[in-house]
Amino acid sequence: MTAKPTVLVTGGAGYIGSHAVLALRDAGYGVVVIDNLVTGFRWAVPEGVPFVEASIDDAATVAATIRDHDIGAIVHFAGSVVVPESVSDPLKYYLNNTVRSRSLIESAVTGGVKHFIFSSTAATYGIPDTVPVREDMPTVPINPYGMSKLMTEAMLRDTAAAHPLNYAALRYFNVAGADPKGRTGQSTAGATHLIKIAAEAATGKRASVSVFGTDYATEDGTGVRDYIHVSDLADAHVAALDWLIANPTENLTANAGYGTGFSVNQVLDAVDRVTNMKLDRRYEGRRAGDPDALVADNARILSTLDWTPQRADLDGIVRDALAWERHLGERA
Ligand code: UFG
Repeated sequence: MTAKPTVLVTGGAGYIGSHAVLALRDAGYGVVVIDNLVTGFRWAVPEGVPFVEASIDDAATVAATIRDHDIGAIVHFAGSVVVPESVSDPLKYYLNNTVRSRSLIESAVTGGVKHFIFSSTAATYGIPDTVPVREDMPTVPINPYGMSKLMTEAMLRDTAAAHPLNYAALRYFNVAGADPKGRTGQSTAGATHLIKIAAEAATGKRASVSVFGTDYATEDGTGVRDYIHVSDLADAHVAALDWLIANPTENLTANAGYGTGFSVNQVLDAVDRVTNMKLDRRYEGRRAGDPDALVADNARILSTLDWTPQRADLDGIVRDALAWERHLGERA
């Protein structure tokens, strides 16, 4: 067996990236982090992990990092993630998620990096005709965020066809929760994601939770999503890397979700259960651009990768998110 390659993790000081760093290290991969610390945190990178503070399109720095650390794989998280912001400032998203990814992919090719994993999103589907949504269903993003990621998927597909590099694009559904050992979690200010917002409310950081829309075509009228524990998602990246190394001529585009949908009210019920309190719910109109339901068909990832979700329990996800929120409160 050949030695495991050293992995460059972009955005490794951010929410999902910092969990992936832990998972890759636990799996025996050497890791180097590159992050510009615009939304990430230096403390989120574990001691002993080499850290490069730079943008992913700083080609000279990326080339030196690849060379100096003999990087064999890149796991690419760095980017912008707030959907409404992508609508008001699309060019920021096409720069951070598309243009800068292009530069990173070129650095990978030039530096002889063999494997590339990309953080894609369920937002590439737009409003699916049916759920659960399969990877071969139409990708018609309804916001610049989804389009900026879909364009990078296309660049990877074409680059992998032309150069000796294979890739996996994982289309994340709703990522939530925090490291069960309390080492990292969602820490960026200005939360927009439901479970993070509910955790802030449950820990007294906000008075109430808005429920956006009660007239969706779902069982209770509130939006349905597929919530995946961030540590399971991090493990999926390790499994994807193992697979890319074992199958050097193959590529993978796969949904990363559990295949189970929960409504906004069901999520808030879980928070009430776990805290034994009642959140103040404010029922409001729909938020622009929200699909009724977005749930993964996860048959492909389950059958391709050696990955079995370990934390597919909504109460557990909520519990870990709450523990991290309390921890953040103690740090502040
Ligand atoms: N919601 C509320 N109140 C809130 C926040 C959210 O009711 O305060 C609702 C939303 O309307 C939606 C559900 O909770 O029905 C989930 O919303 P999130 O903002 O948590 O997540 P999204 O489904 O909008 O976004 C996720 C990912 C994005 C991805 C998108 C694809 O976080 O990266 O799915 O649609 F682009």
